[in-house]
Amino acid sequence: MSVEIRSPSEDELRQAMKAVEAAFGEEQKEEDLDRHQKAMPRDRFLVAYDGAIPVGTTASLPFELTVPGGAVAAGGVTWVGVLPSHRRRGILTQMMKRQLDDLRERGEPLAILWASEAAIYGRFGYGISAPTVQLDADRSRFSLRDDPGPKGAVRLIDREEAARVLPPIYDAVRARVPGFTSRSELLWDLYRLADPEHWRRGAGPKFYAVLEFDGEPVGYALYRIKLDWQEGFAKSQVKVVETCATSDAAERELWRFLFGIDLIERIQGRHDPGSPLFLMVVDPRSLKLRVTEGLWLRLVDLDAALTGRTYATDDSVVMDVRDELCPWNAGRWRMGTDAGRTDDDVELELDVADLASAYLGAFDFGRLAAAQRVRELKSGALGRATELFRTSRPPFCPEDF
Ligand SMILES: CC(C)(COP(=O)(O)OP(=O)(O)OC[C@H]1O[C@@H](n2cnc3c(N)ncnc32)[C@H](O)[C@@H]1OP(=O)(O)O)[C@@H](O)C(=O)NCCC(=O)NCCS
Repeated sequence: MSVEIRSPSEDELRQAMKAVEAAFGEEQKEEDLDRHQKAMPRDRFLVAYDGAIPVGTTASLPFELTVPGGAVAAGGVTWVGVLPSHRRRGILTQMMKRQLDDLRERGEPLAILWASEAAIYGRFGYGISAPTVQLDADRSRFSLRDDPGPKGAVRLIDREEAARVLPPIYDAVRARVPGFTSRSELLWDLYRLADPEHWRRGAGPKFYAVLEFDGEPVGYALYRIKLDWQEGFAKSQVKVVETCATSDAAERELWRFLFGIDLIERIQGRHDPGSPLFLMVVDPRSLKLRVTEGLWLRLVDLDAALTGRTYATDDSVVMDVRDELCPWNAGRWRMGTDAGRTDDDVELELDVADLASAYLGAFDFGRLAAAQRVRELKSGALGRATELFRTSRPPFCPEDF
């Protein structure tokens, strides 16, 4: 189906944003539309028009994504939707292509997204790049093993203080954890710290808790409580919005705090697979951790992406990369500190989406090969590539977008 894809004019903006609403079936309050309008530069919002009618949308927020040893500009793809009246006619496919061209022109070597359904984006070259874990822990079974004892103190603070105290903690962690995205003052204010009632989904207000060691902020937890009483007993849940800890000790104390809140039966939320929590507790099964595919990443400009990260060894490996949607990436690349195009013999062959799964350090090449996602053409290359891309911890993205 032929549609025109372009950014909406100022006058068309609200109507186009309403198309996103129709695709998700979720009512957007005026207040949210204002919020989204402030956060999203209009020229990053792409709309598929069938005549004058907006029938599909996609947009991207400008981020810096932490990658091993550095940070690379990344478009945070969001607002993806096609009206139910126009689905499965290739509109998403046209929008995805256009958006990748657009990000390339902007000089953003990466695109990242959270998928509503895991089967959608692989065909557009996105790969699973930072799996995430859902926590649904049983509070009554919580107990720390090898516990050195409590340290520091937690203070519940108001939103204004949170706006001052939390971002430096986030940025300190962001600098060392691949998968973290930059968060502007605007995004902190409009989304992470904001607390409109209609976002609560039956839970209470957002709490801002800061952990301090000797008066110095070293971590924070944002959470809500969903109250539930049954037959005289409290069975409430802590809904963790975000935790951030600058050290292992801070991490331990944050969880000690969250699991210590009275009247709570379960602690739930997105969890960092690199967190030591699983190994810190006596009963790891009671944390009920469930892995999902998490953040998807698309290598938009392979050259800039490869030179934007560091490598764990001085070695290099030549890979032949398939990329039908972004042909400028396709072909033979030397990966490593001297990354770039090469005519040397190919050692590994793979799809650009599967390279994305190794890029932030989530999966090694041996594991990808075990799943038939990479082919070894020179013996030993899988092991060398694994060592080359090795990172000190799994990636994690705490941002919602
Ligand atoms: C997901 C969505 C955007 C797809 O749009 P669309 O215009 O129907 O997609 P296309 O017609 O371009 O489909 C391209 C291909 O992807 C497949 N595909 C599309 N949506 C899919 C889905 N949800 N699950 C599995 N495959 C899907 C199509 O079958 C098609 O495959 P083919 O090339 O083998 O025929 C649309 O269904 C939608 O708006 N869904 C609800 C909102 C949503 O989930 N948005 C995504 C937010 S991350």
